[in-house]
Amino acid sequence: MSGTSLDGVDAALVDLSHIQPKLIDSYFIPYSASLKTSLLQLHQPAHDELHLAQLISIQLAKIYAEATLALLKKAHINANQVQAIGCHGQTVRHRPEHGYTIQLNAPALLAELTNIHVVSDFRSRDIAAGGQGAPLVPAFHDQVLRHPNIHRTILNIGGIANLTDLRPNTVTTGFDSGPGNLLMDAWIHLHQGKPYDQNGAWADSGECLPSLLNRLLSEAFFTTQPPKSTGRDLFNLHWLKQHLQGNERPQDVQATLLALTGESIVRAIQQFCDGTQEIYLCGGGAHNQALAAYIQGALPHCLIAKTDVLGIPADWMEALAFAWLAHQTMHLHHANLPAVTGARHGVVLGAIYPA
Ligand SMILES: Nc1ncnc2c1ncn2[C@@H]1O[C@H](COP(=O)(O)OP(=O)(O)O)[C@@H](O)[C@H]1O
Ligand SMILES: [Mg+2]
Repeated sequence: MSGTSLDGVDAALVDLSHIQPKLIDSYFIPYSASLKTSLLQLHQPAHDELHLAQLISIQLAKIYAEATLALLKKAHINANQVQAIGCHGQTVRHRPEHGYTIQLNAPALLAELTNIHVVSDFRSRDIAAGGQGAPLVPAFHDQVLRHPNIHRTILNIGGIANLTDLRPNTVTTGFDSGPGNLLMDAWIHLHQGKPYDQNGAWADSGECLPSLLNRLLSEAFFTTQPPKSTGRDLFNLHWLKQHLQGNERPQDVQATLLALTGESIVRAIQQFCDGTQEIYLCGGGAHNQALAAYIQGALPHCLIAKTDVLGIPADWMEALAFAWLAHQTMHLHHANLPAVTGARHGVVLGAIYPA
């Protein structure tokens, strides 16, 4: 898995022979600063972008292969013991309203380098069936984290944040709530050169600016009814700068961005996950203590914990989900949830590149 945060590649080796998946081992390769810069540039129209996108796709596939081979070595597992690699690729455009989404990847090269079947391009078929192609993880949450009597909500805080609502005896819903870490990451990188604001400490040192927060929250996406999904196409530094007056203290902007992520999540929960009793956090943003405190402060009656307490480590949830999605593809099982993505019907997700 390589998500919107552009932090790197999460490789998870997963045993899916039982309903409850088991994480056997894991391996992370961070992106170099230059790769992250190149990927960020490809989010915008650029000269000769088709050629550049192919070169980056090849570079990514080599990193995916390196992560796979390092993981197998670490776990003492041979390639021929692995059913398939589920490889999401790196999103550089997400435009379901135009009928497409682009995840850079070179799955044929990954299959060649690893000698393992590769499942990729998970989102296109759902979009072809009229859906958003996202979020896809709610189906996995539904499979492994549902409780028969307790209303649970799963909150994945990656670059973008998404929610899965698991209400007893009710069909699972889910959607993107808006920015997770990506604006906070971009702002601290601009001012301090750091990739992210550890534990939200810099945000905590500033004051939230209520008028700026209100301007940011007036973005139409926040009040759009699900199904909905988003990405860097909408939420990026350019979008933020349009709302700034220019005289704000940087740490106050960071505090406001943390409040934006927190408040958009809280409002989404109040509106669409009404009455939830337990909120389980996953994704890297689950480590942002200031953000968790914001959400807990606004929803004092909810239990808030990381998914680790349910047996799935917060940092590996999405990689496990894509292993499970690949397993579904290999068995030709439908894996989208039409109530989440808005697709007209269930579909088999992904394309298979045989070893
Ligand atoms: N200790 C931490 N404090 C605050 N944020 C963190 C911390 N650890 C990780 N993060 C955030 O999590 C991000 C990575 O999360 P991840 O779940 O991999 O997102 P994505 O799926 O978008 O790649 C980092 O870019 C950073 O913003
Ligand atoms: Mg990541």
